Amino acid sequence: MMRLDRLLAETSALTRSQAARAIRDGKVTVNGIPVRRPEQKVSEDTDRICLEGEPVCYRRFHYYLLDKPTGLITASKDRNAETVLDLLPPEIRKQGIFPVGRLDKDTSGLLLLTDDGEYAHRVISPGRQVSKVYLAEVEGMLKPETADLFRSGITLRDGTVCLPAELKILSERDCLVTVQEGKYHQVRRMLAAAGNPVVRLRRIRIGALTLPEDSKPGSWRALDEEEKDKVFFRANCAT
Ligand code: URA
Repeated sequence: MMRLDRLLAETSALTRSQAARAIRDGKVTVNGIPVRRPEQKVSEDTDRICLEGEPVCYRRFHYYLLDKPTGLITASKDRNAETVLDLLPPEIRKQGIFPVGRLDKDTSGLLLLTDDGEYAHRVISPGRQVSKVYLAEVEGMLKPETADLFRSGITLRDGTVCLPAELKILSERDCLVTVQEGKYHQVRRMLAAAGNPVVRLRRIRIGALTLPEDSKPGSWRALDEEEKDKVFFRANCAT
């Protein structure tokens, strides 16, 4: 629910005070009834609001951060397997939300969900170069030369050349990988090409939106306007 004058100001060319005046002047109806109190609370989802007889459209989008557990597939629906949407209650699922990009079944971590198609497109569009940071545990011993290979664009076993990426070695078998593209099984294939097959993979950051260290797989929460735009700020595994 929100104030009628605020809703009107957000959905028309009117300022907040012009909206309040239009309401006091009886130019605004809610479900067919003139309402003269700017502070009247209305539902942006269910009330039909008209300004001088013209419907006012209000579409508020929804944004969620989910800590994806392993074992679920990143899809909205699947006939046979459990999907990430199964973690959310029906009242949230019915908002028509879908995953933004994908994480493999065996990968855990930060996944965005929204019903805002334009936002999702901006996050995954290669032109935007939104960076994603993954924490990986690998087989074998990580070598400093692999960071150079990643920096210059590693060639995968099938000949695909990747965009420059960042590798930060944390220990013999643990590293952070920052990529700006989202090819199929990208991080697994990059590390395999370097001789370090992935044992465990977790996405911990998109842009400047970071999963808290104590985040529990399976947990989720709504993001506010400011947080959902953090994905467009630059950050990498060094920050
Ligand atoms: N790279 C992978 O290999 N897997 C993911 O889920 C995401 C990035």
